[in-house]
Amino acid sequence: MNKELVLDSQTIQNRTREMGQEIDRDYQGKELLVIGVLKGAFIFMADLVRAISTPLATDFIQVSSYAGSSSSGNINLVASPSHPIKGCHVLLVEDIIDTGLTMQWLVEHFSEQGAASVRICSLIDKAERREHQINIDYLGFTIPNGFLVGYGLDFDEKYRNLPEIYHLTP
Ligand code: IMP
Ligand code: MG
Repeated sequence: MNKELVLDSQTIQNRTREMGQEIDRDYQGKELLVIGVLKGAFIFMADLVRAISTPLATDFIQVSSYAGSSSSGNINLVASPSHPIKGCHVLLVEDIIDTGLTMQWLVEHFSEQGAASVRICSLIDKAERREHQINIDYLGFTIPNGFLVGYGLDFDEKYRNLPEIYHLTP
């Protein structure tokens, strides 16, 4: 496997700081609950919440997707947040949105749980592979295609610890 640098840490940090300011502008005086999607979002989430000054609570959710009989696949809930959802303004934090299946399921899930609002913050948008229409409220970077690793993103559970983001090529 070869890897080619796509985003260095300074670039990621600068954009994350801007996203934190955008979030601060929108959530003043609101009960903000930031929910990270495990495992990929854990590093981005840690940097993002430190770029937000609005008081907030944090929690996590873990889901896994599997290819079912239909090509669109299905979602399994692996671990739920412990914080109550009802009445909270939920901000979902993802590492990358690819087909959009996971995010579509998550938005529906938290709406059903009685969230006051559900918004999406994703570090990366891989828009070319989108199958489910998703409105990303806060977006770090658009990277058209390829398989990405580092800064939380894995290939077979490896590479999450890299401080930068790379394209992985055979
Ligand atoms: P989706 O449901 O197709 O949008 O896929 C979402 C999940 O697939 C992400 O949260 C990632 O965990 C994983 N994923 C998609 N593309 C990549 C990638 O390029 N590198 C690492 N993980 C990825
Ligand atoms: Mg993920």
